[in-house]
Amino acid sequence: MKYRRPRGTKDILPDSIYKWHFVEKTIHEVMNYYSYYEIRTPTFEYTDLFIRGVGSDTDIVGKEMYTFDDKGGDSLTLKPEGTAPVMRAYLENSLSAESPLQKVYYITQMFRYEKPQAGRYREHTQFGAEIIGSDDIFSDLELISLASSIYKKCGIQNFKLKINTIGKTEERKSYVNLLKEYFKKHYDELSNESKIKLEKNPLRILDSKNENDKMIIEKAPKITEYLGKDSQERFNSVMKLLQQNSIEFELDSKLVRGLDYYTDTTFEFISKDLGAQDAIGGGGRYDGLAEMLGGKNIPGIGFGSGIERVILAAEKGKFIFPKSKGVFVFFISLNNDSKELSSKFVDELRGKGIVCEFDLLGRSLKSQMREANKIGAEYTYIIGENEIKSGSGILKNMLDSSQKSIEIQNIVNFISELNENKKS
Ligand code: HAM
Repeated sequence: MKYRRPRGTKDILPDSIYKWHFVEKTIHEVMNYYSYYEIRTPTFEYTDLFIRGVGSDTDIVGKEMYTFDDKGGDSLTLKPEGTAPVMRAYLENSLSAESPLQKVYYITQMFRYEKPQAGRYREHTQFGAEIIGSDDIFSDLELISLASSIYKKCGIQNFKLKINTIGKTEERKSYVNLLKEYFKKHYDELSNESKIKLEKNPLRILDSKNENDKMIIEKAPKITEYLGKDSQERFNSVMKLLQQNSIEFELDSKLVRGLDYYTDTTFEFISKDLGAQDAIGGGGRYDGLAEMLGGKNIPGIGFGSGIERVILAAEKGKFIFPKSKGVFVFFISLNNDSKELSSKFVDELRGKGIVCEFDLLGRSLKSQMREANKIGAEYTYIIGENEIKSGSGILKNMLDSSQKSIEIQNIVNFISELNENKKS
């Protein structure tokens, strides 16, 4: 085969699309219960948006962006994440003038030049939600509850919430300096990757998977010990709220997340069924992002989640995704006249919302029957030359093989009634 899909991408084939439809429908439904409205931003943005918003020292901006110059010479980047574009759209369209509180969500493709492995793609589909305009601790609670509601409704049984705080921007800056000092003392023992991070983004050393690094990290200063009183109190209140609402969580002081815009609460949903890429979703507060993008000081909080990982986690937990409606009647036609009739009936019945099929390949009676069986049709209706002459075709129940002769002119009504009776 000459052409293959690019590395790290996937084809979602017709036989598994029902899982995607189910997850997408569930997301739209639950977002609606929580009064979030969908927002659609472009597939690409000016590159500067991500450099400013996500941070030039992050892996996403430093290594993973699909960036290109267009024919006009502008540098554009395929969306690697959704929060900076949403904030850009919020500011550009003055959404705050409509309402001081905006609750939005998205389901969209995202692009990151990462090393592909199970659950990690170069193009993935991410859904996420953002609350812009509120720094109320109840908005932290609402988002976490929204994400876990979607996971549960998508059939994920086994997931764990980890939370942390990374404080205000200034607090984080002084904590980062402390961390730098600490890691410098252990420079020789650090992995090569962490040595590089030490200069560029020492906070990210905290989520190193290297065993040696992990031992050093264990004794590193913890941000929670260096927070100001307000930040500490805010975080305690968030944890108390979660407890009051029976949302189980684990405090993980190493949870720093990979994007620079975060402040205060950060969180991740983990499924141990997912292997190395165990984050079903993650997010946090980003109270400085609007200002970083040239807007006013507007708080925000959100989360994002890969649909591929949601499906994988649900399936590992043995969830059976519901399939869409199957074929109710397969019309079997044996000559051109009967095919014309079948086509007319199929059209009428489809108009009534009944799933019907007929042959488009000029197949024999036997192979049409085989096809009807294969696709799981509940009934077949056979019309051939003799049936047209006699005015009646044969309706066969594919489950118990019983047959009935039904007048051709009455078949649409008969099938409609059958379908109604099935529903009741
Ligand atoms: P993130 O943690 O980089 O956060 O991505 C969110 C989720 O997207 C991950 O937990 C994972 O499920 C999925 N994901 C990310 N990269 C890949 C990949 N290469 N392959 C498959 N799935 C992937 C963000 O992007 C933030 N914008 C989330 C957010 C929204 N924070 C605040 N608001």
